[in-house]
Amino acid sequence: MASSEICNAYATSAPLLSRVQKLCQEFECTNDDVRRCANEFVHELELGLHGRTASVCQIPTYVTQVATGREKVFIILKGIALGLDLGGTNLRVCSVELKGDSTFRVLQSQVPVPRDVMVSKTSKGLFGFISQRIGLFLEHHQLSLNVTDMDPSHPYFALGFSFSFPAYQAGINSGILLRWTKGYDIPEVVNQDVCMLLQSEIDLLKLPVKVTAIVNDALGTIMSRAYTLPLTHTRPTIGAIFGTGTNGVYLQNLSGIAKPMDGMVDQSTGTMFMSTEWGSFDNKLSVLPVTRFDIELDVHSVNPGDQIFEKRTSGMFLGELLRLVILELYSDEHLRLFRERCQSAPDPDPSVSLWHRWSVDASILSTAEADDSDTLETLRSKISSTFRIASEIISAEDALAVKLLANAIGRRGARLAGTAVGSVIVQSGILSQYSIQSNATSGARSLVDVAIDGSVAEHYPGFENYIRDALRAIPQIGDEIEPHISIGQAKDGSSVGAAIVVLVAAHQGT
Ligand code: BGC
Repeated sequence: MASSEICNAYATSAPLLSRVQKLCQEFECTNDDVRRCANEFVHELELGLHGRTASVCQIPTYVTQVATGREKVFIILKGIALGLDLGGTNLRVCSVELKGDSTFRVLQSQVPVPRDVMVSKTSKGLFGFISQRIGLFLEHHQLSLNVTDMDPSHPYFALGFSFSFPAYQAGINSGILLRWTKGYDIPEVVNQDVCMLLQSEIDLLKLPVKVTAIVNDALGTIMSRAYTLPLTHTRPTIGAIFGTGTNGVYLQNLSGIAKPMDGMVDQSTGTMFMSTEWGSFDNKLSVLPVTRFDIELDVHSVNPGDQIFEKRTSGMFLGELLRLVILELYSDEHLRLFRERCQSAPDPDPSVSLWHRWSVDASILSTAEADDSDTLETLRSKISSTFRIASEIISAEDALAVKLLANAIGRRGARLAGTAVGSVIVQSGILSQYSIQSNATSGARSLVDVAIDGSVAEHYPGFENYIRDALRAIPQIGDEIEPHISIGQAKDGSSVGAAIVVLVAAHQGT
């Protein structure tokens, strides 16, 4: 039975589920909503290309072609490029050896980024922390430069820096931070070149490493998927991240980029990947759906009024939205949420995460979506561990209420994610090739390939189906073209992809 039907069945008799049903309706994202948002999205993407004030800023990446899978690390010392991924929650350092046959060998280490490094007055904490981790990585894997291997023109490891924040690029190895997102707040770094800040700290530690390229994680994802796909497969030209935060990168014809670009542009391919920074789409809230919970979440975030689209679609925020809704239900004693088996209401315990802002991550939404059992036992135990509520007081009806709400919030997020992907497909101009290709695409090759990564995309059951539903609702795509769009995950693509960009960049220069 679909969740709305389950809800209907209970609603008349159970006040809790009747309220839940109304709340779920507030999170509806109808086909009309999708169409309205997609229209505005395409308009904003176009404004961004003209350098006009737009909520999506369209940052040129200076990467003008996609990887072929045949790249080899022949120019980099010891056959290795380094990748660094500062994504949000974690920092990853890796070394990548591309074999030139669509396969690669990766050594990787990952650590959580400490809170006092994410939020700090000065830049030293973050970049000092990153360079120390690079040093430890080289030491641990005994990656050192050896005079006999040394290519005098490259006496260092080239590092691709996957920096997953909005950074204006004036070239492939410079990135001026425009603003922080995803809970980071280090004011001193804003308007600074993050490649230079990192390089200074690397040099202080005398590490043989040069920051050669800065790459948004959505572009890294495209590159790593492109490298591993068989050559017969359509090359990915769109990348989307739905993880702690969200963004999309796509291949744009240079002729459509009307704003001036400060760096040297390789014109040979006639295209360039643009980083849309769609997380800030519709900050003015002219088309996006909005509930009082969205407003409350935004007001209490570190960047109120900013990243409004991200706050409806990405992992950092979906759990908090659910917490706010559940808290409202809990606060109404008559509904008896989590009280069914208690004689009296338990005293609110301030240490319980139901009252703690940002204490709930998006994994509970995935558990809720995945648990289709009659007893919802897995979900009950997740509710208990997430909200620190004794499992004995979580009734079957409570668990069902959480499931329905989680589904409504997750479904809205995933449909909006599909709206963003669809809008970029429309903007990329690729649909004009459809009539020519329509017969050919019924074979193995798709019309367009989208590389996706991020914790929500990876763990939320049915995420791709919701994206596809939204794609079908966009008139330019519809039922006819949607099956010709291939979507594939590129797990942990950003760090590997950043190392690949180092190589593609080297090829561009030759
Ligand atoms: C950042 C993007 C990034 C995305 C996914 C957003 O908050 O602004 O640059 O690509 O998160 O990590």
